[in-house]
This record gives sequence, structure tokens and C-alpha cells, in this order.
Amino acid sequence: MLVPLAILAIFLRFSHGASPQQSFECGACFMVLNETTTRILAADPTKKIDVGSFRVSPDGQQKGIKQVSYSRSDEFLFEILDDICTKSSNYYLTMNKSTGKLVYSFNSNVPNDKKTKKIRADLRNACDDFLDSQIDEIVKFLKNEHDEPIKQFCQIEKGICSAVDVTPFPIEEIPEEPLTLADIPEDEL
Ligand SMILES: *[C@@H]1O[C@H](CO)[C@@H](O)[C@H](O)[C@H]1NC(C)=O
Ligand SMILES: *[C@@H]1O[C@H](CO)[C@@H](O)[C@H](O)[C@H]1NC(C)=O
Repeated sequence: MLVPLAILAIFLRFSHGASPQQSFECGACFMVLNETTTRILAADPTKKIDVGSFRVSPDGQQKGIKQVSYSRSDEFLFEILDDICTKSSNYYLTMNKSTGKLVYSFNSNVPNDKKTKKIRADLRNACDDFLDSQIDEIVKFLKNEHDEPIKQFCQIEKGICSAVDVTPFPIEEIPEEPLTLADIPEDEL
């Protein structure tokens, strides 16, 4: 497994040399999807609520009501999205070792110096803009479960992040001694 993953990492590094740092917009999308999915998964999965039309038909029945999972209901999703952008004060630019790119990642241990404040303020602004324009689509997306929500929404559906930004870390460590192009078999290039 180690070699193909290392090759993938190299491929991504070379094929996307253009921007060494994740865009603010991608950082905002990453943060919002990461924080919301963390909250959703932490919520009680057995809790249900009634949604739909509460209008009673002439025969005395409520036909439009259905039960949905609370953790993916409008009520809960809008509630967690309400203060999600304040989470930017816990994020910082971190080198993603698998891609060599600077990405926004949860890191509350960085001293809040001038540079950190600026990075977090920029991410906060990008987050506010992102929510303003996308909140309905985010809520619609989060109503369903996805295997890789960040990749699915931020890269595939919205094109806000590049493939490099959303590639999961290789399961195994990247070798200390980086491979060179000469290590990759001819037919892989
Ligand atoms: C995603 O959010 C959780 C909860 O705040 C945090 O613990 C985790 O480190 C975040 N992941 C990244 C890659 O930032
Ligand atoms: C590295 O990249 C992937 C995709 O963005 C992500 O899953 C992983 O959490 C990133 N690592 C950090 C430290 O952000």
C-alpha cells in the first residue's frame, strides 16, 4: 500500500504546483463542513422530530407529518450553522504533509499574535460570505449522510476546493526520504 499512496502524494504535489496555500473560500468550506459534520455525528442518533404540515384534514388526520432524525433536521442544522463562523478562532494554517500544501486546520494552540489574528479574521470573513451565499444548499446537503462530506460538497459539487485540498491523509506515513520521479515506474507517468 505504501508505494501507490506515496505515488499519489507525489502526483498531487506535482500536478498542483500552482497554489501552495488553500484559498480562504476553500478554508471556509472545509471548516464549515468539518464543524457541522462533527456536531451532527455527536448528536443523539435516536432522537426524532416531527416535520411537515400540521394541518388536520376533515377526517381528523394529520397526513403531512413525518418523523426525521433530529441531528439532520432544519431546526438543528440552522442552529449549529448560526455560530459556526466563530469557530475560525480555533483554526490555523497547517502544512498538510501528504500534499505539501498549507491548509486551514483546527489548531487552537497557536499563540494569538498579529499574524494569527489576521489569518483568523480573513477566514472568518470568508466564512460569513460563504454562509450568506450557500446556507440553503449546505442545509439541503447535510440532510443526507455522505461518506466524504467535505470532498463531496467543497470539491465535487461546488468546485470551491481542488482535489489536493480534500485528499485524505495516506493511512501510512509518508517515507522520511521523499521519493523522486525516478522512483516511479515508467508506465505510471
Ligand atoms: C474538525 O473539527 C473538529 C471539531 O472542532 C476538530 O477536532 C478537528 O481537528 C477538525 N479537523 C480538522 C482537519 O481541522
Ligand atoms: C489534509 O488534507 C485532507 C483533505 O483536506 C484532510 O482530510 C486532512 O485533515 C488534512 N490535514 C490537515 C492537518 O488539515
